[in-house]
Amino acid sequence: MSGKADMLLLCQSSERRPQLPDRSVDLVVTDPPFADSVMYSELSDYFYVWLRQALADSHPREFRSPLVDDSREAVHNPGRARDADFYTAVLGAVFCECQRVLKTGGRLAFTFHHAGEVAWQSVEDALVEAGFVAVGYWPVFAEMESGTHLLGKAGAAGHLDIVFKCARFPDAAAPEAQEPIVEMGERLAKAGLRLVAADHRALLKARDVQRATWRRALGGHTRALREGEGSF
Ligand SMILES: C[S@@+](CC[C@H](N)C(=O)[O-])C[C@H]1O[C@@H](n2cnc3c(N)ncnc32)[C@H](O)[C@@H]1O
Repeated sequence: MSGKADMLLLCQSSERRPQLPDRSVDLVVTDPPFADSVMYSELSDYFYVWLRQALADSHPREFRSPLVDDSREAVHNPGRARDADFYTAVLGAVFCECQRVLKTGGRLAFTFHHAGEVAWQSVEDALVEAGFVAVGYWPVFAEMESGTHLLGKAGAAGHLDIVFKCARFPDAAAPEAQEPIVEMGERLAKAGLRLVAADHRALLKARDVQRATWRRALGGHTRALREGEGSF
């Protein structure tokens, strides 16, 4: 980036960002869709069709499609014939693009949460596909129970999002020392967070993703990690 501009707004799938040169970015911070948790494009269609009525004449290019173009939405939506593999593939392509633009030593940080099993596997596969390893993870308090898509469901869905910090393998030598998840859970509980089973599962899943990205990146060196040379 040069000149005075310090912000670039791009309305396109993050699978391709040709405006950004290779190895030009220090840090990618993102918040991808959580598989089948929220159907963003279907929800935005409702607003889009009304906006289109008012703005199509003045912005014909932006409103040429009768509905939101969701062809490359990273989503698992059986209603639109997009399965978990589709979600994994799009997320993997986005992470590959992050990999391309990150400088050596750069980091990818993103949030994730899911109450089920399959979506965590998608995240793991997408990271591995792009050559990332999870160097660290932290729980953060997610949306309030009064949020529209958690209303009445937080007991089952949990209260935690996980923030992952990832690095290009082998730029990072080893995972960062991580607070054991039992202690992490106890500390959160002491801070007044009423953890439910889904929260404990999210912490376990985060640890699984971290371990798996390293195991799969290191290939034949898994025994060394098991024997304690890694810092899991
Ligand atoms: C979890 S939400 C992010 C919400 C955001 N952090 C906020 O506070 O408004 C995920 C977003 O990713 C968008 N998205 C889905 N597929 C995408 C893709 N291929 N490229 C870029 N964004 C995508 C969704 O439309 C949705 O807006």
